[in-house]
Amino acid sequence: MDKLADFAAEECGTPYLPASAIKMRIEGLSKHYGNTVALHPINLSVKTGELLTLLGPSGSGKTTLLQIICGLTAPTAGKLFIDSQDRTKSLVHERDIGVVFQNYALFPHLNVFENVAFPLQMRRLPATDVKRRVMHALETVKLATFGERFPRELSGGQQQRVALARCLVYEPSLLLMDESLSALDRKLRESMRVEIKRIHRETGSTIIFVTHDQEEALALSDRVCLMNAGRIEQIGTPQAIYEKPASSFVADFIGVSNKLRGKPGRDGWLATVDGNVPLPTDEDSLAAANAAEAMLIVRPEHICIDDTNNGFVSGRVIESIYGGAETRLLVELQSGAVLTVRQAARTGRYSIGDVVSLRWQVEHSLLLRH
Ligand SMILES: Nc1ncnc2c1ncn2[C@@H]1O[C@H](COP(=O)(O)OP(=O)(O)OP(=O)(O)O)[C@@H](O)[C@H]1O
Ligand SMILES: [Mg+2]
Repeated sequence: MDKLADFAAEECGTPYLPASAIKMRIEGLSKHYGNTVALHPINLSVKTGELLTLLGPSGSGKTTLLQIICGLTAPTAGKLFIDSQDRTKSLVHERDIGVVFQNYALFPHLNVFENVAFPLQMRRLPATDVKRRVMHALETVKLATFGERFPRELSGGQQQRVALARCLVYEPSLLLMDESLSALDRKLRESMRVEIKRIHRETGSTIIFVTHDQEEALALSDRVCLMNAGRIEQIGTPQAIYEKPASSFVADFIGVSNKLRGKPGRDGWLATVDGNVPLPTDEDSLAAANAAEAMLIVRPEHICIDDTNNGFVSGRVIESIYGGAETRLLVELQSGAVLTVRQAARTGRYSIGDVVSLRWQVEHSLLLRH
């Protein structure tokens, strides 16, 4: 297990982690369905009490990974450890894992109380314990007065919360949630996010949350694990993933990113068809600057319009999108590349057709290998 703890510490970016601080660790885990590789061999450690999101496009292997963790699918190769125990071959009910699936099917013929009580009755708990724990779970999701209602008498968000209560009621130490908020409208999703964060804080449980919504991942997570085509592209804090994407895939997937391709020169500038832009000097960017071709990334909020016409590149405003707190301008450069510029709404004084000069602080840009 010491070796496992060392691996986990390295993956979690800390010098040392005691075995007890690692809730789950997977090692070389892969899954093939015939000729389809749903998961290439991956390693992943989740710390005790951590909320980790698995984020990625459709088909990237998120559900497959979750199903292997909870025991509904057997891996083709690799190992799964929970609380330092090898659980690769354990049965679902031996794993102490709660799962909330995307289609949080409640039993339609049971009322809310009975739905939430179901897992406890399966475990043959005495009736008084069942009542106490169900009421506690319903209070946690703020549905204590809804016990008598049937699922058809609840809104989507309330049904969602019942499913969550049914999962929380037997106090699993590891909670898996697959796209659990995707069926809800924007407002409900946001309030459920707050709810999940609160429950996470109050119960101290370890949560693995699957989503393909980058905003949700950034808002909820201690760490984000970004998946692409059955592989892990990057694992890190929301801030690290947003500000230091390890690849253009990550930069694209997390928010709008502006990209400029070119040849890094020894003079500290990147030569692009739209003009020379300064090369950032952080360690990762310097490494990428050794390549013949590279890609510079700048987030829209870091680009400003230089009214003295001394920007690095210039272009024409082709769209202005009002968004309440901010206005987004789309600026087309000579090459046809389009950069997005975010402006505080009150300063939105540029119109379609205006020619603007753009600059940014070099430390706000990042160079990636092309
Ligand atoms: N039972 C199966 N048989 C064959 N292929 C499968 C099976 N389950 C999943 N796959 C394939 O494995 C890959 C990963 O699927 P998975 O369901 O894990 O993706 P996902 O990231 O959860 O996607 P989504 O966001 O659409 O839910 C896909 O290419 C999928 O078609
Ligand atoms: Mg899925």
